[in-house]
Amino acid sequence: MDQDLKNLPLSEILDIEKLNNVDKPIEVANGLPNECYTNNDYLAYEREKVFFNKWTVIGVASSIPNPGDAKPHNLLGIPLLIVRDKDLKVRVFHNVCSHRGFKLLDKPCTIKNLIRCPYHSWSYDFDGKLVATPNIGGLNNHQSEKFDKIKSNLKEVKTKVWMDIIFVNINSNEIEFDEYIKPLENRWLKFINKADFESLVHSNDYGYFSLEVKCNWKFAIENYCESYHLPTIHPELNKVSNINDHYHIQGLPNRFAGQGSKKYEQPMKGNQKFNIFRNWDKTMLKNSEYIALFPNVMIGLHIDHLYVFWLEPLAMNKTKEHMQMYYVGNESANGEDLKELRKENSRFWKDVMLEDINAIEGMQEGRSSPVYNGGNFSPVMDQPTHQFHKWVANSLI
Ligand code: FES
Ligand SMILES: [Fe+2]
Repeated sequence: MDQDLKNLPLSEILDIEKLNNVDKPIEVANGLPNECYTNNDYLAYEREKVFFNKWTVIGVASSIPNPGDAKPHNLLGIPLLIVRDKDLKVRVFHNVCSHRGFKLLDKPCTIKNLIRCPYHSWSYDFDGKLVATPNIGGLNNHQSEKFDKIKSNLKEVKTKVWMDIIFVNINSNEIEFDEYIKPLENRWLKFINKADFESLVHSNDYGYFSLEVKCNWKFAIENYCESYHLPTIHPELNKVSNINDHYHIQGLPNRFAGQGSKKYEQPMKGNQKFNIFRNWDKTMLKNSEYIALFPNVMIGLHIDHLYVFWLEPLAMNKTKEHMQMYYVGNESANGEDLKELRKENSRFWKDVMLEDINAIEGMQEGRSSPVYNGGNFSPVMDQPTHQFHKWVANSLI
């Protein structure tokens, strides 16, 4: 984050009445006001209410596959440290030494045994426990009777890995994750169950790409929630799956929204295809679903692959998009035979996302207009987008 975040009351940043308008029935509602996309003081507020109070995504577990693998992550100015411990559990700590506050980890690495602070070498185990304080009592004196190590352990962040996605709840105040995710898990039981999660494998070759976009993170979610823009923004995609082949998804309680298609065709090369999920409902073989789980992750679920498209807000008008691709079993995810098909599939999604960038950056530009009141929704086509706006507005108030 490159700007100072001041904590002003929300009512000094924007007209609360405008936020109340968001929650009205879709026919008369307005979208979120411009300040939510342009005002840096607002960002301080959003960071607390929309990111730290919620289950927020900061990466995927397969990016740190081995014990000791660790990486730093900056969540809207908060330095975090993600590490896989010796029992293979992913843990997240605040990335700051308890001594003089040095940032512990600067770049991805594999830690052998202890998380050692580069400044005075205080060292922590993978539980975050402070275990070594070299020379704390003077040269070669590594203990001090006057110092109680226990109060200087690292501060751990409430963390849950689900479908390889790393969620954190910085303020530890959201409901338990298992309960939080239940509505979406239940919705998807007809496609995948917990046993199928185990068969998901991240692809090592064409399994990841990222894009930097010049717009607020919320535009990526809003755009993802609707299929209304298919004919204009994705003319090629629209030829195989048009607006009429899509349906809306509105998660209740309001935590996710999105759309589904009834015309998904598995990619093929010759007669080769990717493996499919074992428990997928046989009457819905061509269904695919695209769900945004608020605030910052979008999941695309298909019978033969899944992607996790998560957002890292960098500034009010700058966002990094991370795309992670998964297949069913290692043969599809990493086998040599299907490499070309993976390459094509990754290229396909990248092209779709590149097309979307025009749309979302255009919305950012438009938000500088003083006459724009947050806009009006199509009562038929914009329901999931409206749902996301309502979720943000309600999280703020
Ligand atoms: S600041 Fe980390 S050991 Fe001193
Ligand atoms: Fe799109």
